[in-house]
Amino acid sequence: MTTRVPMVAGNWKLNHTLADAKQLVSTLAAEAPDRSQCEVVVAPPATALKTVVDTALGSAVAVAAQNVYHEKSGAFTGENSPALIRDVGCSHCIVGHSERRQLFSETDAAVHQKVVSLLEHQLIPIVCVGETLAQRDEGTTVSVVLGQTEAALKGLSDDQLADVVIAYEPVWAIGTGRTASPQDAQDVHAAIRGFLSKDFGASVAESTRILYGGSVKPNNAKELLAEPDIDGALVGGASLKSESFLPIVQAAF
Ligand code: 13P
Repeated sequence: MTTRVPMVAGNWKLNHTLADAKQLVSTLAAEAPDRSQCEVVVAPPATALKTVVDTALGSAVAVAAQNVYHEKSGAFTGENSPALIRDVGCSHCIVGHSERRQLFSETDAAVHQKVVSLLEHQLIPIVCVGETLAQRDEGTTVSVVLGQTEAALKGLSDDQLADVVIAYEPVWAIGTGRTASPQDAQDVHAAIRGFLSKDFGASVAESTRILYGGSVKPNNAKELLAEPDIDGALVGGASLKSESFLPIVQAAF
């Protein structure tokens, strides 16, 4: 029997002023379920992290950064380190989002460095993987996704993997209104879990959360989250308003 607690994370991307962020997280903090039922995470832009952490204090809502640089400190203009996002009060960090891979040339090697550095600072990485439409059409979805997963996680100990969350986000489903069918998503999730089981052992693979992301909305969340290997959602557009995010949270448990 699996005992994975679902996670629903909202990736706000480049959205929300401090006032908007504060208002949204206040509502989520008041409505979020107990963490034993579903872990709710929000990932505001870096400018709003501190405000969101302070507003969510004492609630069940956890806060993630959307990106990080692996170095501890130094001459890296424009970057934030794991130590700094932890200092602000974050507990999680998204890494390897397809927008970072595609628009900011983030490589598998960089994603791996970020994962290692986050774990060294007791932060939970939410590692995004996913194929483009061309790769899906070529039939290389599973090899692309497992290649990204392997590169991100290589060399981690079983104990370290236990803290990692994976998010399968098909690039063609992000922000497009096109969702992977529950079965298509389940097939990829099962392949990821199979890979984790082979590389890290069945027990840690069974306890690792694998989220689905890509046009998750209140009207499709329930059937996606009903699949046995889909352990939650990474939500973009629908996470920007409590009216659309909370029903997705409710659908997860
Ligand atoms: P949408 O839910 O807007 O498709 O975005 C998904 C996503 O990229 C979450 O990280």
